[in-house]
Amino acid sequence: MCGIVAYVGYKQAYPILIKGLERLEYRGYDSAGVALLNHGLKTYKIPGKVAELKRFLEDKDLDGNLGIAHTRWATHGEPNFTNAHPHYSQTKSLSIIHNGIIENYALLKEELIKRGYTFNSDTDTEVLVNLIEDIQLNEQVLLDEAVRIALNQVVGAYAIVILSADSPNTIIAARKGSPLVIGIGDDDFYVASDATPIVEYTKNVVYLEDEEVAVLTRGEKLKLRDIKNHEKTPYIQQLEMNLSELEKGGYEHFMLKEINEQSRSVKDSMRGRLNASKALVSLGGIVDYEQTILAANRIVIVACGTSWHAGLVGEYLFEDLARIPVEVEYASEFRYRNPIINEGDVVLAISQSGETADTLAAIELAKSKGAIILGICNVVGSSIARATHAGSYTHAGPEIGVASTKAFTAQVTVLTLMALRLAELKGTIPRSRFIRLLHELEDLPNKIERVLDDKGATKFIASQFKDVHNFLYLGRGYNFPVALEGALKLKEISYIHAEGYPAAEMKHGPIALIDENMPVVFIATSKGIYDKVVSNIMEVKARSGKIIAVVTEGDTTVRELADYVIEIPETEEMLIPMLATIPLQKLAYYIAVMRGCNVDMPRNLAKSVTVE
Ligand code: AGP
Ligand code: GLU
Repeated sequence: MCGIVAYVGYKQAYPILIKGLERLEYRGYDSAGVALLNHGLKTYKIPGKVAELKRFLEDKDLDGNLGIAHTRWATHGEPNFTNAHPHYSQTKSLSIIHNGIIENYALLKEELIKRGYTFNSDTDTEVLVNLIEDIQLNEQVLLDEAVRIALNQVVGAYAIVILSADSPNTIIAARKGSPLVIGIGDDDFYVASDATPIVEYTKNVVYLEDEEVAVLTRGEKLKLRDIKNHEKTPYIQQLEMNLSELEKGGYEHFMLKEINEQSRSVKDSMRGRLNASKALVSLGGIVDYEQTILAANRIVIVACGTSWHAGLVGEYLFEDLARIPVEVEYASEFRYRNPIINEGDVVLAISQSGETADTLAAIELAKSKGAIILGICNVVGSSIARATHAGSYTHAGPEIGVASTKAFTAQVTVLTLMALRLAELKGTIPRSRFIRLLHELEDLPNKIERVLDDKGATKFIASQFKDVHNFLYLGRGYNFPVALEGALKLKEISYIHAEGYPAAEMKHGPIALIDENMPVVFIATSKGIYDKVVSNIMEVKARSGKIIAVVTEGDTTVRELADYVIEIPETEEMLIPMLATIPLQKLAYYIAVMRGCNVDMPRNLAKSVTVE
């Protein structure tokens, strides 16, 4: 949650900060602010989006070579002017931006109040900056030392950057749980929640580790210590990110761009990993763990949201192809329910951002019990990617739209490759079927192109249903996770209530909702339990529900029953989710746009959920 950008050097800080905030705005966007140091500390902040901050700052003095900037995703206190970051310390000599939650803030605040501190905001962040100031003043230590001592008293998650009016050449950054990247320029430093604000200035970056404190002084080398005061050697990595991937490239929204990129992104997920004519499938990142997976009693998949839906497809794939038992857990539930994890169990964490706090915590828990942790992440160098023993990147490219689209199909692609490889090794798949599936998989990007080019079908359907209040999504087998994902997409960006269900479960409850005002989206492709799904469609029709069906090209049965159909090309049953999800992404997108919603930044949401 929340975007952090900071700069210290010899350039003007403001243009770097504001552009950085625009890049990071997908992370959180209920208020925004910036603090600049130039013969004194100036702070400007507003409730609202970065564009509003920019307008507000048009006539202000924005001079300064040091600065910090923030877009907030409120946890403590409503999104208003006072709660927006940066926050001053009591004497106004320190200014802080923070991502995360200080869990013991109430206790710390009480102590500070006893010591004479007063607070303007409701945030946990203002408590932290005053704690740091209190330590600095009482113990007469330098700022970095005060930060280090303070962080030893803090329970919770943080990525922070601090400026001091008394240190015109230095900023301090630290993290635990929330991400922070430092870009190393020639004689300057950039700090950000992810690398997107940094890439145009330098490719040399250091990903801060948990409990590390960085002292960034212009013209000097980066100094790193952990909060226990051990000196650390910075590990400098090269960014592999292309600037054009961070722009909208002519599309009205990132979400639409990302939906349309899926043919390419799925191809990128398979690149170098699949060669159908040579009957080869391999995932370099997990080669060393293949035997461990095969020897495991089961695989436990942990993830949240869309990544959890991909995990559900993974369960079907692993069980179907490789006959390995799989459990798919919401990371947030898994971590608090005393799960049974034994040494040698394999836990597979799936995450687009690689920063989701619940998934990270689930990993740490499973690790502490001796499990082997594998990851499927999109963001290279992210916390989850680094916390796992091994894993495979999805290589979908940066996903900026808050609603996950191309990350899902890329995750399912990697899961399919994994399942096929394990099935091959385990001998649970006949050779001919294995080879047929590889060819079909290789051809999938072409079929995705065809799905994307739907001649306006989904847009038209969207126009017919944009004003409804409820939607039901139904599918069976591999199409059940597709139904869940379709419903999630719609609700998160259009604010229409939508539920996904296994089609046959409808008769156990949701059928009561059906009347002439209820649109029901069926994923009714020709493979699997098609006939049973047709019966479910009849049941809805008998109750006057409106039927929108995703069907296989050439289907006539469902076409006769449904009010609207969207065709997708025929493919193997287990590959259908990669095609069938796409029209549902588009349906949600067009409905949301027609309702005037901000699809890239839906209300209350943030791209990477780095708080519990
Ligand atoms: C998807 O559209 C969501 N906005 C959300 O559910 C997301 O998938 C979830 O927060 C998990 O994120 P991750 O993949 O980055 O871990
Ligand atoms: N907990 C802090 C607040 O509510 C930071 C939230 C964030 O990560 O944006 O202000």
